[in-house]
Amino acid sequence: MKILITAGPTREPLDPVRYLSNRSSGKMGYALAAAAAARGHSVTLVSGPVALPPPKDVQVVRVVTAVDMLAAVKLHLATCDALIMAAAVADWRPVRVAKRKMKKGSEQRMLLELKRTPDILKTIAPLKGKKLFIGFAAETHNVRAEAKRKLREKRLDLIVANDVTAPGAGFEVETNRVTIFDAHSEEQLPLMPKREVAEHILDRLEAKCEA
Ligand code: CTP
Repeated sequence: MKILITAGPTREPLDPVRYLSNRSSGKMGYALAAAAAARGHSVTLVSGPVALPPPKDVQVVRVVTAVDMLAAVKLHLATCDALIMAAAVADWRPVRVAKRKMKKGSEQRMLLELKRTPDILKTIAPLKGKKLFIGFAAETHNVRAEAKRKLREKRLDLIVANDVTAPGAGFEVETNRVTIFDAHSEEQLPLMPKREVAEHILDRLEAKCEA
């Protein structure tokens, strides 16, 4: 299969020295890319800024903002059979990006006005056709309900949900504890290394592809 994977955070600039972002390390998306390439799939990895080496036999496309990531996903979507959106796309970006460093002067407070970034999965949903789309849901509460809502609203074939507050799961760690949902079932996996989580996700993807 030709698999397009996104990984890492996006960064939304505020001025030349500052940005808004999140705690994503990119480890889950990079583990997926490495595991898929090792299985012989052709893998393109659209990566936000992370401190990880490029996985072997993977074409890496580097992006910074959510808008950049959307453009890169659109560019590579036409030739892929499956998309795995493991990236933690920032939901908000500053309305104004200062050309020069913002100086604090004598202010004790400042208000930052933000606007929505594009929802990549919702934007490309009309281009889905027969491609398989897998999303992630990083939640702190109502994990099951939120995962099922996102599965439906983002037209996903599978969603991988995790409670990022659970021990050993979520950001900056080597392990994850996830539940994989499709429209009819849910499969709860025990705590395991992200590479093993990646293998499970790919097993499910390959099974859907053959179905
Ligand atoms: N996602 C996306 N574009 C965005 C935000 C998220 O394509 N602007 C994708 C993520 O890559 C992930 C899925 O949508 O696969 C769910 O992301 P998540 O951050 O959990 O959810 P949100 O859509 O941001 O919803 P909420 O703010 O309600 O949690």
